Amino acid sequence: MILDSRLSAVAELVRSGTRFADIGTDHAYLPVSLLMGGKIEYAVCSDLRKGPLKNAEETVKKYGVEDKVDLRLSDGLDAYSWGEVNEIAIAGMGGLLISEFIERTEWLRNDDIHLIMQPMTHAEDLRKTLYKNGFYIDKEVAVKDSGKLYIIISAYFSGVFETRTSSQCVIGEIYKNCDPVSREYIKMLLKKYTVKCEMLKNAEKDYTEAESIVKELRQCLK
Ligand SMILES: C[S@@+](CC[C@H](N)C(=O)[O-])C[C@H]1O[C@@H](n2cnc3c(N)ncnc32)[C@H](O)[C@@H]1O
Repeated sequence: MILDSRLSAVAELVRSGTRFADIGTDHAYLPVSLLMGGKIEYAVCSDLRKGPLKNAEETVKKYGVEDKVDLRLSDGLDAYSWGEVNEIAIAGMGGLLISEFIERTEWLRNDDIHLIMQPMTHAEDLRKTLYKNGFYIDKEVAVKDSGKLYIIISAYFSGVFETRTSSQCVIGEIYKNCDPVSREYIKMLLKKYTVKCEMLKNAEKDYTEAESIVKELRQCLK
């Protein structure tokens, strides 16, 4: 099975031989591809809705991996229990929803747990939630797929609860990367916050935070 660049980048971050879970699995392409490639031996795939889980079931049957997959309905990680999985992918959902999962799932606060998240929106809020709840971001990957830019965040629990500035939450760890797609991602953020800053200025509203984010983003591109 060939994954698109977005899911391939998520798959690359998965540690071999882990107890893998795919939250909001839909078609289950990610876990099935990992199973076919031998990176994992078993996966739990869950979704909030029956329709997407049916899609997952079809993919699992098509590739003959029924004995290696546990399909279940679950709102976030609610139908999982402590110790069951330690490698968790949450891709293709909003950053605020992923934040909610993290906030309410106490057993994620364990240094054996690896979270691989691909938020479609609000990546800055997700980082804020991670830092606030004692997680550290070890790596971020920017990826371009069909002309669209995506960010993938890899995080572990450290027990250090931090409040980071807005700029730090917008930039995350992506400033450490020198590859062209990461730079393009930073340029995209710069454009977004420059526009935001101008709009606030024109509306005679407080633009100091947006301005400091713009400054930090410019610094990242030097
Ligand atoms: C856009 S699809 C992403 C599928 C796949 N993870 C990917 O990245 O290609 C989002 C999936 O998340 C599921 N979803 C939405 N809210 C959810 C929740 N609260 N808990 C679990 N799954 C959820 C949806 O039903 C849908 O199947």
